[in-house]
Amino acid sequence: MSGLPTTRDSREADLDAIQQIYAFHVLHGLASFEETPPSIEELGRRRQDVLRSDLPHLVAELDDAVVGYSYASPYRQQPAYCRTIENSVYVRNGFHGHGIGRVLLAALIARCELGPWRQMVAVIGDTENRASIGLHAAFGFQHAGTVRSVGFKFGRWVDSVLMQRALGDQDT
Ligand SMILES: CC(C)(COP(=O)(O)OP(=O)(O)OC[C@H]1O[C@@H](n2cnc3c(N)ncnc32)[C@H](O)[C@@H]1OP(=O)(O)O)[C@@H](O)C(=O)NCCC(=O)NCCS
Repeated sequence: MSGLPTTRDSREADLDAIQQIYAFHVLHGLASFEETPPSIEELGRRRQDVLRSDLPHLVAELDDAVVGYSYASPYRQQPAYCRTIENSVYVRNGFHGHGIGRVLLAALIARCELGPWRQMVAVIGDTENRASIGLHAAFGFQHAGTVRSVGFKFGRWVDSVLMQRALGDQDT
């Protein structure tokens, strides 16, 4: 591994890499409560939903390879939540701990702060997901609660940790 990770807007052509990255975490991790890896086509539809909401969908590259991605999506569908977004960050297995999550989340926050959104919420699967909790804490996300045993995956009940961060000065 050499060089520093960079970020850019994702493209259709990145979906293959994005699917591989996400599939690993679906099959082996508790960050996502999905159990079956979505197809490239389904991830393409989800990406289009993000873009239609005027929200960013980014990838990180290292040595010209896609090694992670991040995006923001509406937190909930009801109109009252219209200024609240949820973030997602996934780094390719084997590339953790090299600052890729950091650049992806930094770029995502910076892009979202240009828009009208006021709060970014991280819904983190598993209280033991120290990497995700640590990453979000490093960017000023505060613990907003733990919803206990709301997921069942790999034969056990799993908590969901909520963390949130104001965007810009929009916490008033
Ligand atoms: C969570 C995840 C995105 C972090 O990405 P990463 O590239 O490994 O993290 P980075 O190397 O950029 O670390 C950035 C900061 O996060 C925190 N962090 C990262 N890994 C950590 C760990 N294992 N324990 C505690 N804090 C950690 C640290 O504050 C770190 O800063 P530092 O290196 O200056 O100490 C990555 O581990 C991942 O894809 N995990 C599986 C999917 C997931 O949980 N996604 C989040 C869904 S909400």
